[in-house]
Parts: sequence; structure tokens; C-alpha cells
Amino acid sequence: MSAIHMPTELVSGVAEMDRQHDQLFNEIVQVKCALLEVEDDHEDGLALLSRFAEDLIAHFAWEEETARLQGVRFEEGHIKAHRQMTAFIRTKVAEVSRGDCNIPALMVFMERCFETHVVNMT
Ligand SMILES: [Fe+2]
Ligand SMILES: [Fe+2]
Repeated sequence: MSAIHMPTELVSGVAEMDRQHDQLFNEIVQVKCALLEVEDDHEDGLALLSRFAEDLIAHFAWEEETARLQGVRFEEGHIKAHRQMTAFIRTKVAEVSRGDCNIPALMVFMERCFETHVVNMT
């Protein structure tokens, strides 16, 4: 079994949800390593950040569709948070690709933002 990357207190017990969250936490760690370790060349970090952005957006779509199929209604604030994080991560991909991004601030914000998303499940 592969290592668990997300904090154990964030495990929901819903297997597919936990698998996706854990994968996204793992991707954040990879993005962080790639962007912070190599200061002048962000090519790998950008590729990983772009992959994270795609997977994050796919995860939000999966969550919303799964909730809809199960008749669960997310609070408006949760859907809004999905939209805000989507816009945020797209902006950051664009900034990193222009070489115009505060990388440490991005990392801290990304971690907090995603953790908040996992804590506020509904
Ligand atoms: Fe969510
Ligand atoms: Fe989620």
C-alpha cells in the first residue's frame, strides 16, 4: 500500500473521496518540492502545478456530481469555494508560466486552502 499523505484527522471514511484527497495532498507535496528546490527553472514545477490544477478541478466536478447523484446538497459556500479555488489555481498556473509568482506564498496558501476544503466537506 502506498504512503498516506494527508493528515489522518482529515480522513472521511469515504474511500474514493479519501483516495482523491490523498492523491491531491501528494501532488501538492510534489509541486512544493519541485518549485522550492529549483529556484530559477520552474519547468518541472509548472508541469506538476498544471497537473494538480487539472486533477483538482476534476475532483471538484466528481464531488459535485457524486453529491448530486446521492441527493446530497452542498452548501452554497462549498460550491463557491470550489469556484474560487479553481479561479485561484488557474491564475497561479498562468503566473508561474510567466515567471511572475511568489512561490512560497503560493505553497502556503495552496496547502491551507486545500486543507480547509477537506475540513469543510459540506
Ligand atoms: Fe469540495
Ligand atoms: Fe474534496
